[in-house]
Amino acid sequence: MSLFSTAPLGNLTLANRVVMAPLGRARSDEQTRQPLPRVATYYRQRASAGLIISEATHVSSESVSRPGGSAIHDDAQVEAWKPVTAAVHAEGGRIFQQLFHLGRKAHPHRLPGNLLPVAPSAIAAIGEISTPSGQQPFPVPRALETEEIAQRVEDFRIAARNAGRAGFDGVEIHAANGYLIDQFLRDGANQRDDRYGGSVENRARLLLEIVDAAIAELGAERVGVRISPNVEYDGIRDSDPLALYSHVGRELQQRGIAYLHLIEPDTTPPERRLAPTLRELFTGPLILAGDFDRDSARQAVEQGRADFVAFGRLFIANPDLVERFRREAPLNAPDEASFYVGGDQGYIDYPFLEPRREAVAG
Ligand SMILES: Cc1cc2nc3c(=O)[nH]c(=O)nc-3n(C[C@H](O)[C@H](O)[C@H](O)COP(=O)(O)O)c2cc1C
Repeated sequence: MSLFSTAPLGNLTLANRVVMAPLGRARSDEQTRQPLPRVATYYRQRASAGLIISEATHVSSESVSRPGGSAIHDDAQVEAWKPVTAAVHAEGGRIFQQLFHLGRKAHPHRLPGNLLPVAPSAIAAIGEISTPSGQQPFPVPRALETEEIAQRVEDFRIAARNAGRAGFDGVEIHAANGYLIDQFLRDGANQRDDRYGGSVENRARLLLEIVDAAIAELGAERVGVRISPNVEYDGIRDSDPLALYSHVGRELQQRGIAYLHLIEPDTTPPERRLAPTLRELFTGPLILAGDFDRDSARQAVEQGRADFVAFGRLFIANPDLVERFRREAPLNAPDEASFYVGGDQGYIDYPFLEPRREAVAG
């Protein structure tokens, strides 16, 4: 197997095993949270990836982060995403939409009615969040009542349906990086005593209900899941990741989803690595992500440790990353200062290897 060979994923055959990782870039309309035309240009430029996974996209109005984040919970947003998926498909690319809910990592200053963000338990994330009144500590969230959880599952269901209507090839459920689903998964953030807290089965319940809802809308072959067992952003952690994620791996295996996407850099200490265990428990396509370069990705695929490798920062700076890898060409360096600032600069102006006629975003 080579990084450049075709590979099946769900019902699709992907052109190569180089995946564009989900990357929030804050380039959508600040009020409507609809992607602007530049977003279609950006993804079109990167359509030679075997698969693009879109930026994390909010599934509800109680999930609001920095200005420029995108959403997919109303009909106008569905319409606004259509040119994006069409642009990628016109170039022969494939694109899944990553769906997320911030949970405790939102802030009342950004939420409708200044409501408190919701979470499994009233435990604040560690760190700060940017708000209209400057940097603020993460707030103590409001713990969801048991009967309120069904609505959050419903929000993901509708978002998955909307993603299908907008022309996405599938959805990725974002259960990584300390957002709502991850907050339910890990016992450092989830101290509930109902059927969504306590045992690993209970803590995985929200994720699995959301996965089942997305499958009901789109079919298992169009649903992927992203997890980050070793990422401890903003104080998210678990006392027994092996037990937790083994359960998750087994359950996802039973559901036959399109892929499992695991953030686990090669530098992860061996005793903390979950990729080998998950590879045994989950026999579908595995995407690995985190600090990979061309050579480490090639090794991971050639050694059968992964079916695909996702690249984040390298795709920000190199729209033609696949071609650069193929030719062993030099790479552009990502400009961190423009990751989240809005506008075209640092977004759609990274140079290609060769002059290329840019199509106007449709
Ligand atoms: C600007 C930026 C935005 C990101 N946004 C998301 C996101 O929306 N969803 C997500 O799951 N991960 C997000 N990530 C994490 C990346 O998907 C990826 O896991 C991380 O950058 C490590 O991969 P890399 O070393 O190839 O960049 C983001 C990372 C960066 C740098």
